Amino acid sequence: MSLQNKYALITGSSRGIGRGIALKLAADHVKVAVHYYQNETAAKETLADIRKLGSDGFLVQGDVSQPEQIEALFRRVQTEFGKLDIFVSNARPEIPAFFQPPMEVSLEQWDTAFDSQAKAFLIEVRQAAPLMSAGGRIFAMTYAQGSRTGGLQSWAGMGSAKAALESLVRYFAVALAKRGITVNAISPGWTEDSVLNTLPEPAQDLIRNWHISGWTPMGRLGTPEDIGNVVALFCAQEAGWITGQVIYADGGASLMNPEVPPEIQLGS
Ligand SMILES: NC(=O)c1ccc[n+]([C@@H]2O[C@H](COP(=O)([O-])OP(=O)(O)OC[C@H]3O[C@@H](n4cnc5c(N)ncnc54)[C@H](OP(=O)(O)O)[C@@H]3O)[C@@H](O)[C@H]2O)c1
Repeated sequence: MSLQNKYALITGSSRGIGRGIALKLAADHVKVAVHYYQNETAAKETLADIRKLGSDGFLVQGDVSQPEQIEALFRRVQTEFGKLDIFVSNARPEIPAFFQPPMEVSLEQWDTAFDSQAKAFLIEVRQAAPLMSAGGRIFAMTYAQGSRTGGLQSWAGMGSAKAALESLVRYFAVALAKRGITVNAISPGWTEDSVLNTLPEPAQDLIRNWHISGWTPMGRLGTPEDIGNVVALFCAQEAGWITGQVIYADGGASLMNPEVPPEIQLGS
């Protein structure tokens, strides 16, 4: 697919899923603003890989939990690109910044979750929309299982923040519909080469084995490339009638029934 003459900003594209999205869009000829927070070296590598794919872009740093830094980020996009066609709100703080059960999470951790997700998206979309014309595409990366379940206790702050983010996606979808700009959330399943790889090895093994052994019907974890492909698909002109949705991109994991062991569900 060619997305020639399109310009994208992806927050948190130094590594993980954001990087996968950046590389897929670059392969489709999109110019990419590579945003990072602390990891300039990784961001430089992403930009170098974008150039190897025949596209181009620039690096921009900022903390998405700070409104004035988000505004500076978009000022830079306006200066460098002059317009924006694709915006992906993908950045998420490191696990220790928010990962606590509901009875223990500090107000600072709670604010970090909400400021970096729902509040950041509110500010980002207000900055992005004026740079966009009809056909613009806005995405929020969510984890919809954490928005609607309560089992992963230490996800309380981030799960609540993602739920608010998904709600805001629907409100912005209506607000921008008349301008021909779509706004959707994408919910990846557990993904390799991402935050997963920062967890202790035993936890990684438990998660991988659970999915490979059946919880993900397709029998593997996702990759950043999988999610890049989903974003690229939704950037196609033909996807212009889909807005305000939460798209599960998880090899079918969200279809499994949590009350029944996978061995019985899969009916082997
Ligand atoms: N990984 C999964 O299995 C999975 C599943 C479902 C949903 N998701 C969602 O997908 C998105 C990406 O997840 P990931 O696992 O790929 O992320 P990741 O590998 O942990 O990378 C996080 C990215 O966010 C940036 N970042 C961290 N704190 C920031 C801050 N305060 N301000 C601005 N940027 C900041 C990082 O920049 P630096 O590199 O500069 O630090 C990095 O680029 C998240 O929204 C996540 O909730 C992930």
